[in-house]
Amino acid sequence: MKNIVIAGGTSGMGLATAKLLVQKGYRVTILGRNLAKINKALIEIGENASGKSVDATNTDSLKQAMGEIEQIDHLVIALSGGKGIGDFKDLDLNDLKKGFEGKFFAQLQTAQSVLPYIKPNGSITFITSISSQSKAIGTAGLGAINGAIEIMIPTIAKELKPIRVNAVAPGVVNTTWWDFLSYEKKEERFMQYSDKIPLGRIGEPEDIAKMIFAFIENDYITGQIIAVDGGLSLI
Ligand SMILES: NC(=O)c1ccc[n+]([C@@H]2O[C@H](COP(=O)([O-])OP(=O)(O)OC[C@H]3O[C@@H](n4cnc5c(N)ncnc54)[C@H](OP(=O)(O)O)[C@@H]3O)[C@@H](O)[C@H]2O)c1
Repeated sequence: MKNIVIAGGTSGMGLATAKLLVQKGYRVTILGRNLAKINKALIEIGENASGKSVDATNTDSLKQAMGEIEQIDHLVIALSGGKGIGDFKDLDLNDLKKGFEGKFFAQLQTAQSVLPYIKPNGSITFITSISSQSKAIGTAGLGAINGAIEIMIPTIAKELKPIRVNAVAPGVVNTTWWDFLSYEKKEERFMQYSDKIPLGRIGEPEDIAKMIFAFIENDYITGQIIAVDGGLSLI
């Protein structure tokens, strides 16, 4: 049975991906910082799943964790930084640096740390964000973080061949990522987006999981960034 490592697999899109992959006959190893979240997620996934507590901003702990996993066929990187939001005139650049540390560098070092272990016919799927293209007010910093990962994808794919390297760029998705807002503000923001999004709703984590599954299964696709955003990037 193939094993997929999901860095950031304890909530949101990573967890939805873990559930889908197990349904489709894979084993998963989920990584996250919080052990209680890992254990809760493992109960939700149900079978063929294991977990490891690791902070992806720490290279040594990442290398150790990857080395301890028995078999790695594919890697999914769903880590989230969550920092760096705000209008440019007030953008806190220290916050933006934390955003780069928590997502850009964390995702890249996760990918580097798997290289000695991942199967040559495997793949690495990053989760970036449509903020790299959306030009939405307040997302210049987030767009820079995600755009910086996206610009690297085709080159990394050429360098790492035959390992395949792709990215999914989600739009607005209903996950704990939005918990920095109060429940009311979150609902209000989601309603506003639903009105604007061509497909008439915000995304669910399962929408992104289906694209990640396709990237894992389709062994003739590499170097691609695919938006899964209900058409948000079209407006
Ligand atoms: N939700 C959206 O609307 C949206 C839109 C566009 C892009 N995205 C991107 O989609 C990806 C998935 O986000 P999500 O919405 O599913 O968020 P989420 O529910 O907050 O999930 C983030 C996951 O990453 C783990 N994580 C965060 N930092 C980590 C670290 N340093 N080391 C190890 N694990 C870490 C979290 O677990 P622990 O906290 O326990 O570590 C959790 O499992 C992120 O890259 C996010 O930027 C989200």
